[in-house]
Amino acid sequence: MKGLILSGGKGSRLRPLTYTRAKQLVPVANKPVLFYGIEALAAAGVRDIGMVVGDTREEIRAAVGDGSRWNVKVTYIEQDAPRGLAHAVLISEAFLANEPFVMYLGDNLLKTGITPFVEEFVRRRPAAQILLTRVPDPQMFGVAELADGQVVRLVEKPKDPKSDLALVGVYMFGPEVFESVRRITPSVRNELEITDAIQDLIDRGCAVHPHLVDGWWKDTGKLDDMLEANRLILETFDRRVDGAVDADSRVEGKVVVEAGAQIVRSVVRGPTIIGADAKIEQAYVGPFTSIMNNVEIRGSEIEHSIVLEGSVLSDLSNRVIDSLIGRNVRIYRQPLKPSAYRFMLGDNSEVGIRW
Ligand code: DAU
Repeated sequence: MKGLILSGGKGSRLRPLTYTRAKQLVPVANKPVLFYGIEALAAAGVRDIGMVVGDTREEIRAAVGDGSRWNVKVTYIEQDAPRGLAHAVLISEAFLANEPFVMYLGDNLLKTGITPFVEEFVRRRPAAQILLTRVPDPQMFGVAELADGQVVRLVEKPKDPKSDLALVGVYMFGPEVFESVRRITPSVRNELEITDAIQDLIDRGCAVHPHLVDGWWKDTGKLDDMLEANRLILETFDRRVDGAVDADSRVEGKVVVEAGAQIVRSVVRGPTIIGADAKIEQAYVGPFTSIMNNVEIRGSEIEHSIVLEGSVLSDLSNRVIDSLIGRNVRIYRQPLKPSAYRFMLGDNSEVGIRW
């Protein structure tokens, strides 16, 4: 069984962060979301992984390398433009070499991992196995219609969804899929949709097996989903304090404090992670917050947020919540009059100010 991780694409819904970084490398609980996918494949015994990359290929390569860290072998497959998930399959045909494979979308996270699904696929060996889960907003996903437990129809992001069963971004295929990816034509968003290729398998009478996922699943392409994924992962952590906590601080609950981090005259309430060499001083870091390496939080309060490497928050009078703050950002109180907001924000930034 081979693996195919899709790590190209644009990441337009996480701009401005994704102007300077691949969306698959934005960290959830201080680890790039892509690494969870590699770990899930490795845990399922998939050792030979093709990584489809686009514009952000250099950054992905630098982060993932040859895969030896996970005891897998990673082969990079270049996609010239994000022409769709089925296009990614098409260009990977030589790598996949007629073997069955798991396709994993690089911005997806599954609580249960994928091992039981891979085992089921190997046992039943349909032409395709898809994972489905109920969602409140099916029009944002590929949607499946079932009848008597069989898939009868799949539609990509339907305006008028016929069910609430969304396609999770993990698929298992046999080589039958190549004929289908060659038969389909681009969709309205001008992509070769994997959803259409699977519909083509159904139309050709090939077995497409649906599997309902009950643990949580997140597509981390948007801010709210990112924060929720962060929350879900942090909840699974055990307490571990390797950094320094002074006598005037309180570190409560499931908190990870990495080596080199310093907590000074502060309260940190878990579940929370404080990255290596971060400094929390006279501050409050509340539940569901991931603070990355070399961040400084001084004289400020923050919760339910993600702060990336090297950023500084100092002397803020209101608590920061529900935020995703990029790398090397500085948010600080201006001592000088006039008392006014002063911003330097990238394109497509978003700032919410309380009235
Ligand atoms: O997350 C599940 C959903 O993923 C499914 O319900 C949909 O049926 C499926 O089409 C897909 O929808 P998205 O619109 O969310 O896909 P997105 O464009 O975000 O791409 C998913 C991943 O694949 C992402 O890591 C980027 C990568 N990608 C995407 C395209 C279009 C590529 O590597 N190459 C591509 O050409």
